Amino acid sequence: MATAGAAAATVLTPEQAKARALARVDYPANRLANIADLMVNEPMDISYPDADSPGVLLKLGQAVEGGVGPEGDVVAFSVLCPHKGWMMSYSAADKTLNCPGHHSRFDCETGGQQVWGHATSNLAQFTLRLDDSGDIYADGVDELIYGRLSNVL
Ligand code: FES
Repeated sequence: MATAGAAAATVLTPEQAKARALARVDYPANRLANIADLMVNEPMDISYPDADSPGVLLKLGQAVEGGVGPEGDVVAFSVLCPHKGWMMSYSAADKTLNCPGHHSRFDCETGGQQVWGHATSNLAQFTLRLDDSGDIYADGVDELIYGRLSNVL
């Protein structure tokens, strides 16, 4: 049963509406690769949402959080460590991204969840979409990319 409280929660003051509008980010839809270009557990270097934001595109071989494609196993992440921005590398052995700076580790099978180290947030995961031809597009980011006040500059 709908309640008056629930309805009241959707009414925004003009200031709240303005703040919400300012918080919205329009992400570009960038083609990263075709799914036929990917091999299981072999990372592909990409960048998103712009050339100054390096990332990695992965086909993990089993359905995972945020995964797209027929197997739900294609994901992409920023490779800039959320702690202090060191460039991370992929470990195929345990499907993690690993930071050489202070050894933070992020699990690519659980949406970039931090599993070790100094970082205080999970890794930024890129939102992916697959079209009918197998082209993979990124069109969003779920966390703030290291060093940015906004993911889209
Ligand atoms: S920069 Fe990655 S853990 Fe410090």
